[in-house]
Amino acid sequence: MRYPASALLLAMTLLSGGPSMAAEVTADAVARGAYLFAAADCASCHTDSKNGGAPLGGGKALKTTFGTFFTPNISPDREHGIGGWTDDQFVKAFRKGISPDGRDYYPAFPYTSFTGMTDRDLLDIKAYIFSQPAVPTADRPHDLRFPFNIRWALMPWKILYFREGPFMGDPSRSLEWNRGAYLAKAVTHCGECHSPRNALGAIEKNRRLAGAWNGPDGMSAPNITQHPDALGKWSTSDIEALLKDGITPDGDFVGSGMTDVVANTAKLTDADRHALAAFLKALPVKDPTPKPVATSR
Ligand code: HEC
Ligand code: HEC
Repeated sequence: MRYPASALLLAMTLLSGGPSMAAEVTADAVARGAYLFAAADCASCHTDSKNGGAPLGGGKALKTTFGTFFTPNISPDREHGIGGWTDDQFVKAFRKGISPDGRDYYPAFPYTSFTGMTDRDLLDIKAYIFSQPAVPTADRPHDLRFPFNIRWALMPWKILYFREGPFMGDPSRSLEWNRGAYLAKAVTHCGECHSPRNALGAIEKNRRLAGAWNGPDGMSAPNITQHPDALGKWSTSDIEALLKDGITPDGDFVGSGMTDVVANTAKLTDADRHALAAFLKALPVKDPTPKPVATSR
């Protein structure tokens, strides 16, 4: 062969008239995207299932201490959804938390975790979304308290608390640990619910995964570090069983916000579930987040 395969591939892509290699949408990309979309739990926030909303049509209310967010329409509808977005605009929304028209996103959209995803994984998610039906529903404005309703206040917030990805692996650890860390941090975003937040809604780094009281919709998510009262006594296969069937070693079913998560982690391959569990087993011990003293608010 006279030319390296990569040069041939590039030449073929240019000849086929596609704007770039990344823009080529294949059935494989859609299938990979569907897998990641489920793992990242995109549908449960962007579907108003309580009120019979269409998938990806948005409008679900997320009640927080800052007010109520209404999730946007992320269907491929060109007017109300994201059907007009380019690949670059899509990646930028997740990597940098910035909309195509330059607005900063609220961290109620967990781009703070998704920033860790690779370009390829993000574009596969886009390919999957664009293979779904368009939903012609307009976005509903958020209903936030002052001063949280001022979007430009997010700029200093991001400087203080946002660290842009993508996720950098740790070459001193096994491939399995790295896969588990990538899934936990960037994709399935366990830390978004299981970590306490400060008064400005940023995760308290030192207590990451040590449990959170009063999360969105009043949810409390327990410590999932290796503390003996948390997952310290669970084996790797106990954790895998929870992520597959939602059953704890004591035989209880997990409920609350974890129900949707388990519905998604149940769809992971055994190898990915095992990697997630192995990553959790390797976490350091952290004391559980203390329960906040009741306030009058
Ligand atoms: C915990 C709930 C939650 C999850 C999970 C979530 N989102 Fe969102 N998303 C939001 C909220 C809230 C906003 C609006 C943020 C804002 O207005 O600043 C948003 C905004 C977006 C936007 C910007 C839409 C626009 O019109 O500007 C896109 C695109 C998006 N999400 C796609 C996704 C995808 C894809 C996933 C899964 C990988 C996902 N989201 C997971 C809550 C969520
Ligand atoms: C949407 C918020 C949310 C996300 C995301 C989330 N969890 Fe949970 N998780 C919860 C809540 C709430 C509970 C408590 C469930 C209950 O009270 O039954 C819980 C419970 C658990 C438990 C049971 C702990 C115990 O001691 O009984 C484990 C283990 C767990 N989660 C692991 C994970 C892992 C691993 C991830 C990432 C793949 C994850 N969670 C993502 C909200 C979440």
